[in-house]
Amino acid sequence: MANKSKFQAIKGTRDLLPPETALWNYVEDTARNVFETFGLDEIRPPIFEPTELFARSIGAETDVVSKEMYSFEDRDETPVSLRPEATASVCRAYIEHGMQQLPQPVKLYYMGPMFRRERPQKGRYRQFYQIGAEVLGGGDAPAIDAEVIEMVMTFFDKLGLTAVELDINSIGHHAPNCRPAYVEKLKAALEKVKDQLGADSQRRIETNPLRVLDSKLEHEQAIIATLPRIADHLCPDCASHYAAVKRQLEMRGVFFKENWRLVRGLDYYMRTTFEITAKGLGSQNAVCGGGRYDGLMELLGGPPTKGIGFAIGEDRLILSLQDSGKGATPQGRDVYVAWMGERAYATAVRAAKDLRNAGFSVELPPTELKFGKALERADKLGSRYALILGDNEVSEGSWTLKTLADGTQQKFTEPELLEFLKQGKSGG
Ligand code: HAM
Repeated sequence: MANKSKFQAIKGTRDLLPPETALWNYVEDTARNVFETFGLDEIRPPIFEPTELFARSIGAETDVVSKEMYSFEDRDETPVSLRPEATASVCRAYIEHGMQQLPQPVKLYYMGPMFRRERPQKGRYRQFYQIGAEVLGGGDAPAIDAEVIEMVMTFFDKLGLTAVELDINSIGHHAPNCRPAYVEKLKAALEKVKDQLGADSQRRIETNPLRVLDSKLEHEQAIIATLPRIADHLCPDCASHYAAVKRQLEMRGVFFKENWRLVRGLDYYMRTTFEITAKGLGSQNAVCGGGRYDGLMELLGGPPTKGIGFAIGEDRLILSLQDSGKGATPQGRDVYVAWMGERAYATAVRAAKDLRNAGFSVELPPTELKFGKALERADKLGSRYALILGDNEVSEGSWTLKTLADGTQQKFTEPELLEFLKQGKSGG
């Protein structure tokens, strides 16, 4: 069991260990496969960026920027931060590399670690992993929103994660007769009930009134239910965009629930927002969040470019898969080469090379073991077969293959053996 060493992983970080890493790889491979069927390519932005990039895009007043970033001064005194998310980086890269010259929209996905100094708990870490995608340029047709959401749902479906709920909303845009007008109404309504709200919500009336809608505080729920709803205050353009997104989702057979309180915690969103929750996660049950951010590129000094994307919390996705019994089985080995004798060893080395070239996972013990001991180890490693090579087998050119599940043995010449194993593999 766990030993106490002088060093331990920093609070909120953890080692991902085998056999669980096999599940992580499976999830990432599946994401790549599904995203590629939707025409996305991979981008790998850096892990740290100028702090200003995140402050500008996510918003200086957000919890993420004001409380949770790992920020430091580089040796040349540039303020830099570990990335808390990747949308800002992808937009920066789009501008920096002149991607507006490419056929639009540019469709990119990414995966990797993000850093937020939150209070660690189940499903919430300080280093966590996201799998995300951004679709940039190419306008703001509701079909783009719907296809992005369809892609996430297809991915979850491929993983067998079916107990998920998709919530959608529209939070309007920056034109004065849309979100700003609604925010004024909301502020006025909040001022009237201010005394009944907790300290956080009271503060947010000034800094970010929309975030009050996000509150999980029990006693605030009844009050929030009486507040004006943004869907009733969208300008005609945003209202028809939202209606079209819903029609487009229905057309694609994507089930959703409208949630007027879904405002998201980052400032760059406008119009469509969405979140997906999954079972078995307790309070940290959001496995995916995303939305449209049409003004962000200009905010970062780029050409007017619309954008929409999402990020999946991979740690939570894995927890949810494990909770629903879809955890990966340990990988095991195909062949354990049990060898004895010097001549046998030379043949064993060559056989291991040939088998690995043919795609089999092979364990070749580095020192000689008695056959009994070798078979014991083969069993412990979950090997399917043991290839028994003694000097006799080598001089006769007839190798013994033992199937560990039932103990049966068969004799093969070398080419026959490869053929036999290949058939076993293709037949499952
Ligand atoms: P977000 O909602 O901040 O959005 O994060 C997306 C997902 O990352 C969350 O739903 C959650 O699953 C996971 N996550 C966030 N913080 C943690 C944490 N401390 N521990 C474990 N998982 C966490 C974004 O990051 C946006 N960039 C998404 C996006 C892309 N919007 C448009 N494009």
